[in-house]
Amino acid sequence: MKAGDALPVGQHNIEIQRNREAWERKPLLQEIYRGFYRRIAARIKPEVPGLVVELGSGIGGIKQVIPHCVTTDLFPNPWLDRQENAYRLTFADGSVSHLILFDVWHHLRYPGTALREFSRVLAPGGRLILFEPAASWVGRVVYHFCHHEPVGLKSAITWNAPPDFSADQSDYYAAQGSATRLFWGGEGRGRLAGWRLAEVAPIVSFEYFTSGGFSGPQLGGRFLHPLVRGFDRLAAVCPRIFAARLLVVLDKEKT
Ligand SMILES: C[S@@+](CC[C@H](N)C(=O)[O-])C[C@H]1O[C@@H](n2cnc3c(N)ncnc32)[C@H](O)[C@@H]1O
Repeated sequence: MKAGDALPVGQHNIEIQRNREAWERKPLLQEIYRGFYRRIAARIKPEVPGLVVELGSGIGGIKQVIPHCVTTDLFPNPWLDRQENAYRLTFADGSVSHLILFDVWHHLRYPGTALREFSRVLAPGGRLILFEPAASWVGRVVYHFCHHEPVGLKSAITWNAPPDFSADQSDYYAAQGSATRLFWGGEGRGRLAGWRLAEVAPIVSFEYFTSGGFSGPQLGGRFLHPLVRGFDRLAAVCPRIFAARLLVVLDKEKT
């Protein structure tokens, strides 16, 4: 797949089913993901009224750590709470306290259009939490060579959908470096009116890389991983070189 390519949207559901099988086979991956979900849970502000909602939940693993999270996806798989499209949500204005997107932002061809919809459903002071690939120096090599989706560091970001766009036209788009470029690399500057960029946290995790994620083979046995975790702690001093993941928190301004 190349930057800007569009595959049929059903490709997402093919991958969801594959990911479910990988999840069952890979307890280490589950453990790593639970750690990622705990980082997200720590950013939830209980004082903001409204629902905690995940968009693009895929296999719905977040419930293991945030049981009250409403899980949703483009595809109404039976383990999810409801079907939702990020570009046209069915939630009432201001009814959501937190929107969580785990590996979903980089599938949004028109991030500015989606952000407007997120702002509509979020309560004042509500949070958008993104968990994304980090295109650090190591990250861009790993994601380029070990994952089928383009990193897309040089391709144009189309912020707004064309006027005749309808949410039903969503396709399978991917640019893994989108969040890095916008929130860590500064390309979002001037595009985030109505939002406060509250946090950009790069996460060094060779543990994640060596787990192979959902699509690759796990490197080393389970016993190697405590060592890898130790290395992660050392490498954490250079996130621009080593980060694997990027956690981004955007707060909707209260106006
Ligand atoms: C890479 S998967 C991530 C799945 C899950 N969050 C995880 O971390 O395992 C991307 C997910 O986003 C969903 N998705 C893509 N475009 C979407 C949209 N416009 N609205 C809602 N979900 C979308 C896909 O169906 C897919 O489940």
